Amino acid sequence: MNQPKRYLVTSALPYANGLKHVGHLAGAYLPADIYVRYLRAQKRDVVFVCGSDEHGTAIPIQALKEKITSKEIIDKYHEICKQDFSDLSISFDIYHRTSEKLHHETARDFFTALESEGQLEIKESEQFYDEETNTFLADRFIKGTCPNCSYDSAYGDQCERCGKSLSSDELINPVSTLSGNQPIKKSTKHWYLPLNKHEEFLRHWIIKEHAADWKTNVLGQCKSWIDGGLQPRAVTRDLNWGVPVPLKEADGKVLYVWFDAPIGYISATKQWALDNNKDWQPYWKDSDTQLVHFIGKDNIVFHCIIFPIMLHLNGMILPKNVPANEFMNLEGEKMSTSRNWKIDMQDYINDFVKKENGGGQCVDMLRYYLTQIAPETKDSEFTWQGFQDAVNNELVAVFGNFVNRTLVLLHKLCNGKVPTVHTDILDEVDKKLITAIEQTVPFVQKSIEEYRFRDALFEVIDLSRKGNQYLQKKEPWIKAKQPSENGNIVESAQKEIDNTIHHCIQLCANLAILINPLLPHTSKKILHLLKVVDKLLDWQNAGKLNLLSVGYSLRAPELLFRKIEDDEIKYQIEKLKNNAQKYKPMEEEKLVTNLVPQKSTIQFDDFTKLDLRTGTIVACEKVEKADKLLKISVDLGSETRTIVSGIALHYKPEEMVGKQVIVIVNLASRKMKGIESQGMILTAEDSDGKLRLLKPENSVNPGSLVS
Ligand code: MF3
Ligand code: ZN
Repeated sequence: MNQPKRYLVTSALPYANGLKHVGHLAGAYLPADIYVRYLRAQKRDVVFVCGSDEHGTAIPIQALKEKITSKEIIDKYHEICKQDFSDLSISFDIYHRTSEKLHHETARDFFTALESEGQLEIKESEQFYDEETNTFLADRFIKGTCPNCSYDSAYGDQCERCGKSLSSDELINPVSTLSGNQPIKKSTKHWYLPLNKHEEFLRHWIIKEHAADWKTNVLGQCKSWIDGGLQPRAVTRDLNWGVPVPLKEADGKVLYVWFDAPIGYISATKQWALDNNKDWQPYWKDSDTQLVHFIGKDNIVFHCIIFPIMLHLNGMILPKNVPANEFMNLEGEKMSTSRNWKIDMQDYINDFVKKENGGGQCVDMLRYYLTQIAPETKDSEFTWQGFQDAVNNELVAVFGNFVNRTLVLLHKLCNGKVPTVHTDILDEVDKKLITAIEQTVPFVQKSIEEYRFRDALFEVIDLSRKGNQYLQKKEPWIKAKQPSENGNIVESAQKEIDNTIHHCIQLCANLAILINPLLPHTSKKILHLLKVVDKLLDWQNAGKLNLLSVGYSLRAPELLFRKIEDDEIKYQIEKLKNNAQKYKPMEEEKLVTNLVPQKSTIQFDDFTKLDLRTGTIVACEKVEKADKLLKISVDLGSETRTIVSGIALHYKPEEMVGKQVIVIVNLASRKMKGIESQGMILTAEDSDGKLRLLKPENSVNPGSLVS
C-alpha cells in the first residue's frame, strides 16, 4: 500500500465544563499522542489537532451549578484542560476552541453549504417550552422521574441513575430546570440531516471498505446503527448558547453541538495553518491524507456515521480509521464525574508530577500504566495497586534496571567509554540478542500502525527484559574477576566483556528510540545519559547496532524511575474514597428507595375502589409466637376493628395506643396466626428498612374518608 502523503490526527474535543480524568486521557488523548509521536519520528507530515468543545447544554448547565456565566465556564475550563494535557505531554499541534470566531464561521459555512444544496430537511414538531423564561427546553433542561428506574431527578436526555438514554417526552412529571415549572408543548421548526438517505453510502464505506481494518467494537456499533434504521437527525436546537443558525427564519436557534463540534477539527486545522504559514485544505480535501479520529466509545456514532455524511456531502475526505476505545473503570466501579469516582488528570499532576521527586518520570509512569491497561478491545480497570505493581515490577525492575546496569558496568569495566566489538568472538547468545533487537522494530511498528499500543509497549519492555537475560547469561562481572597476574582483567575476558557491554549500550540506544512515542521523557533521559542528540530518535535508526561510536564516553548512571511507595498508594485510595463519600450519602438514600420500580399504571376507577379511612388505635398487644405481628384494635368511628399488622419490630404495643392511622377498610379479611385481620394499616418504609406509620397531619375524627 502507498504511504499516505500526510496525516491528520484528531482527539475528541473535550467539553470545557469540568476537569478531565485519567479515563478520558487513556481513551482519546494518550493513544493519539503515541501515534503522532511515532509518525513524527518517522518524519511523516502530521498535524495533531484538538481543542475545547464549548457549546451544547453541558456548558450552561455547569454555569447554573457554579453560578457564573457560560462564557466564564468555558474560559476557566479551556485553560485548565489545555494545561493539564500539556503537563502530561500530550503534544497537540493546536488546542483550539469552538467559541472562536474562526470556528463559528467555519461551522456556519458548513451548514450553509448543506442547506443551500438542499441536503437538509425542515420539520415542525412539538417541544417543551417554559412559559416563564420564554424558552424552548433542551432535553437537558428538563428533569422528571425516570420511566425505567423511577429515579426522580432524571434528565430529559438521560437518567444518571440507571444510565438509560431518554427523550424528555418519556419523563414522568417533567419540570423545567430553569423555572421549576411544568413546561407546556409548543410547536417549533428544525433542520434535519436525513441520515436515512445515506445508508447505501455508509454501508459501502464502512461495511465493505473497512470491514478488515476497523476495530470490531467500532464496526459492531456502526452496523447496529445502520441495521436499526437510520433516522433524520435534527442539526439545530432552540438554545441561546452555540453557533447561531445562519438563516433569517431561524432566529434564536443554534447549531446542534454535535453538528458544530466535529467541524471544530476543521477550524482547528485552519488556525494551525494560519499560525504556521501552511495551507489547511489538503488536510481535509486531498485523498492522500490519512485522517484518524481518536475517541471514546460513546462518540462512535458521531464520528462514524453523522460527521462522515457531513464530510461526504461537503466534498471532504473521510476518516481512514476511528480507533475508539472502550471505557476504563476504577477500583471496581465505573469512573464517574457525577459520583466523583475518578482520578482527575490534575490530581495526578499535583500529587505526582509536581512533587519534589516527580516530573517527567511520573508523567511516563502514568503513560506507562494507562497504555498497559488501555481499554483497546474491552473495558479495563485502573487500580492503584496495579499502578504501583506496573511501575515497580516492570518500569523500575525491568526496563530501568537494564539501562542502569548497563551504565554501571560500562563505568566499572570499560572506563565509561563505549567498548569495541570483537566480531570474531560473537557467540549464539550475542546473535540471539541482535536478532531480538532487529525483530522487535517491525513488531512495534506494526502494532502502532494498527493502533495496538498495548502490544507495542509490551514488545519494548520485553526487549529490555531480554537485555537483562543477556547480561545474566554473559555475567561480565564474573569474567572481570578471573584471576590474572597483574591484577588487571584478563585480556580474553576483557574482549568478552567489551562485546557484552557494547551490545547492551546499543540496545539502550534502541530502547530510547522505541520507547519514545510511548514514554517521551524516559527516552530523553536515556539520550542525556548517552550524551546524544534528539536526532538519534529518528525511527529509521531503530534496529541499528552502531548507534553509539566506539570510544565515546557516557555520563554516570542515574536511575530512570523511582519506586512508588506503599504510602502513596494508600493515600490515593483513601482520597478516592473520601472524595466519593462527599457526594454519596444523599444519593445512596435516593437510590435505595427509588430502585423499586414503579408499578404499572392504574385508572382513577381502580383507585376509587380502595376505601381508606382514618382510625384511632385504642388497644394493642403482641401476637403470641409471632415476632413481627401486633394485634391492634382501631376505632373507626362507627365500629372498632381488629387488625393484625407486621410492625412489631418497629413499634412497641404501648407506643401504639392513641395514635391516629390510615386504614384500608374494604380489604378482604384474612386470618393470621388464628386471628382475623379486618383491614390494613398504612406504613412507609424508610431506606434503612424501618416502617413508619402514616397519619393525618392534624388529628381528624375517626372514620374520616381518605382520598
Ligand atoms: N465533547 C464531546 C464529548 O466529550 C466530544 C466531541 S468530539 C467532536 O463527548 F468531534 F465533536 F469534537
Ligand atoms: Zn433511570
